[in-house]
Order: sequence, then structure tokens, then C-alpha cells
Amino acid sequence: MPIALIILAAGQGTRMNSDLPKVLHKVAGAPLLVHAMRAGSALEPERTVVVAGHEAAAVTKAAQDWDESAEVVLQAEQKGTGHAVAQAFTALAGFSGKVIVLYGDTPFIRPETLQTMIDTDADVTVLGFESDNSMRYGRLILSGTDRLARIVEYKDATPAERKITLMNSGVLCADAALLADLVAGLENDNAAGEYYLTDVVGAAVARGLAARVVTCHEAETMGVNCRQDLVAAEAAFQAFARAEALDNGVTLTAPETVFFAFDTYVGRDTTIAPNVFFGPGVTVESGAEIKSFCHLEGCHISRGASVGPFARLRPGAELAEDVHVGNFVEIKNAILDEGVKVGHLTYLGDAHVGEFTNIGAGTITCNYDGVNKHRTEIGPQAFIGSDTMLVAPVTIGAGAMTASGSVITENVPDGALALGRTKQVTKPGLAAKLFEKFKAQKEKRRKETN
Ligand code: UD1
Ligand code: MG
Repeated sequence: MPIALIILAAGQGTRMNSDLPKVLHKVAGAPLLVHAMRAGSALEPERTVVVAGHEAAAVTKAAQDWDESAEVVLQAEQKGTGHAVAQAFTALAGFSGKVIVLYGDTPFIRPETLQTMIDTDADVTVLGFESDNSMRYGRLILSGTDRLARIVEYKDATPAERKITLMNSGVLCADAALLADLVAGLENDNAAGEYYLTDVVGAAVARGLAARVVTCHEAETMGVNCRQDLVAAEAAFQAFARAEALDNGVTLTAPETVFFAFDTYVGRDTTIAPNVFFGPGVTVESGAEIKSFCHLEGCHISRGASVGPFARLRPGAELAEDVHVGNFVEIKNAILDEGVKVGHLTYLGDAHVGEFTNIGAGTITCNYDGVNKHRTEIGPQAFIGSDTMLVAPVTIGAGAMTASGSVITENVPDGALALGRTKQVTKPGLAAKLFEKFKAQKEKRRKETN
């Protein structure tokens, strides 16, 4: 059955105390909104509609950066969750199938939970959870053992209803045509003066339809409302990602010091030393080694490669098998073929390095002229001497060498040695004479000041 996602993301998130709309605050390198979209995308929805309001342009960009087919509907005034869903249906004309409503500020709903909701035989299915410590949530009122009668918002609940511990997560699933009809009929005569999405349950039951509850753990429905919640969400994500990495056969010496992104992939038997940070878009194959204090984003590390300590791999860094990248090396938009060694103190940007080439300490690709970026091509089995400046665009041939301290501004053919430095001048005995002179000067100054 076709599925459409409606993701509610119009709220400002006042308690974040931020210029950025709440759903664009990040957990594990991705906006909260993207986490919600990702959970939903596992169901392979035919349509995804994001309801934006506050800072709609920024929300639209984030949604479409992640999924360019996502549609965004504007809810100019936030009149409640039911009103927001009604707006979404303006983009869903002609869609038939099931609709799942998610919140853009609730990042950890599992795809499996959403699948269970879709598979539940009911006209309206609500995701609930057990909790005894909340004032804010709507309460799920059951009839019989497995039927849901209605949802009552905390503000509108009687003291007896407030004692109910089965809470509404806000996630809801229903047939599209039915839900469109139900939200169109909502009223706002309640404590908040809002159109409550939750009222569709009572309305469906009044029509003789079946509403049911699927439950999940409270942690799954964790929402973010303030910076404290963001910290808690990040911690929850990291705890999960670390455990998952260990289960997948990754060695983490000090898991609590390793930070993963929402999309990090690390292969089996890779070792990650303490204090490593993964930004978005990193894949590491099996049997690699990431030493301490590395900062990695948008890069690929192949089997058997070793990186760090203190290395920075930026977007477009691709390390083939058995590449070695050592301390204080930065690599951006550069492909390093098999067996390349870049041991120390180097910047490689906009470059390609052929297999088994050795890059000496202090090598810099001078890739930027202040206006444009230029490429450096280095052939296989070359040797770049320490402290070589490679002024791009420039090509170093296969098996070529550059002398230490060279500033290379012209292409170097295969097998050639390029020297781009001034010739050395040696003055026998001059150092000893200078030392004598300097010592005498120092002694003279000492006597004058005493
Ligand atoms: C809602 C539920 C409540 C549930 C709780 C779970 C209703 C009436 N209540 O309450 O039963 O226990 O979530 O967290 O649905 N939004 C819009 N446009 C609007 C209003 C809200 O896009 O006009 C978005 C918000 O940005 C947010 C989400 O919908 O992402 C939920 O809205 P919020 O105001 O937080 O609802 P709650 O009062 O928490
Ligand atoms: Mg809320």
C-alpha cells in the first residue's frame, strides 16, 4: 500500500532560545527534521510533505537538501497539530494509501515501529508509550483491552484522566482519505483554543471505526524542546551508536570519547582509539585503524588504512587500501591510491596521489590562488621531498622526485628529479667565528648593565 509521510515542523521552538527554528538544530550532525525524515524514508513513502511555518525557507532547504522530492506546505499561523495536518493535505490531492504523521522535533522513532503501525489492522493507529513522569502529554483513553476510545490533552484532562500513564507520542497512522476528512471536521473548543490532531481518534470512534494503540519505549519518542533536551538527545544517540558499533565488531578503546554522526558506517575489526570525531558522510571499511584525536567528515577510508593520531580528513578525502595518514595531516577533496604514505604535517587539497607514492613531511598543495582552486596530480611511486610546496595546477609524473624544500611551479615529467630551491652555499669555519662574536657581544652587554 502506498505511504505518505506528513512531518509537522511549523513550530518556532521558543524554548530553544534561538534564531534557528527548532527542527534545524542538529543531533549527530543532522537536523532533527532529517532524523524524522530518515525514519520515515525507510518505509519508502511515495510522498513526503513537511509542514513548515517558522523560518519556512530554511526548513524547506534542509528538507529538500535531504530529499529533493519532499514537498513543503506552509502553515502561516500555528493553530494546532490538527490544523497543520489539514494544511498538508493540500499537497496530497490524488494520493490514496496510508498516511503517517511524524513530528520534526522527535528524532528517534524507529522504522520498525512505524512499520508495525502500518501493519496494524485499524482505521486510526496511534503510537503510545508508558510514562509516569509527565505533565505535558496527551493521555490515551482505552475502551476494552485493545481499542482506543479517544485522546485527552493534559490541559483538558480530569484529575482521574491525568493519572493515566499511557501517553500519546503524537505519531499517528490512518488512511489518507479518512484522515483528510477527519481533520477537516475538527473544532478548537478546548483549553488551548487549537485544532488538536488528537481529536481525530474520538471522531473516528464516533463513526464506528476502529482506533488502536501501538506502544514503544519512551526513549523512542523523546522530543527536543530546549537546549538541555538537545544535549540529552545527543547523548542518547551516541550511546546507541557506540553500542551498535561494538555489536558490529568495531573495537572502541574508550567508546565514551568517540562521537559518531547519524550516517557513520564503520566496518568490522576496525579499531578506533580514544577521542575521535565523525562528522557526516564517513565510511570506514573493515580492518582500518583510526588513532586518537582524528576529525573525519565526508571521507572514505579503505581496508587496512591507518589514520592519525591528529589527522583531519575533510569532504572528498578518499583513502584506498593500506594508505597511511599520520599526525597533523589535513586532506580535502583528494584521492590517495593504494599504499600512499603521508606521514606528517601535510596539507593535500584538490589532489590525486598515485599508488605507493610517499609524501614527505611538511608538503603542501598550494591549491588556492585567492580566487580559484587548482588541482595537483601526483603519479604513482613518486617521492615528494619534505617541505615541498606544490603550486597548483601542477603535475608530478610517475616515479618522479621533488627535492626537499622545493617550490614546484612547473610540471615534473615521469622519472625526473625537480629541485626548486636556491643552491646551498657553505662557508668553512664561519659558524665558529660567529659564535665567538655573539658571545663577546653578550658579555659586553652584561658588563654595561651591571
Ligand atoms: C502533542 C499532542 C500530545 C502529545 C505530544 C507528544 C496534540 C494536540 N497533542 O502535544 O497529545 O502527547 O504532542 O509530544 O497533538 N506543530 C505544527 N503546527 C502547529 C502546531 C504544532 O507544525 O500548529 C508541530 C510542532 O512544531 C511540533 C509538533 O507539531 O513539532 C507537536 O506540536 P506541540 O505544540 O509540541 O504539541 P504538544 O502540545 O506537545
Ligand atoms: Mg510538544
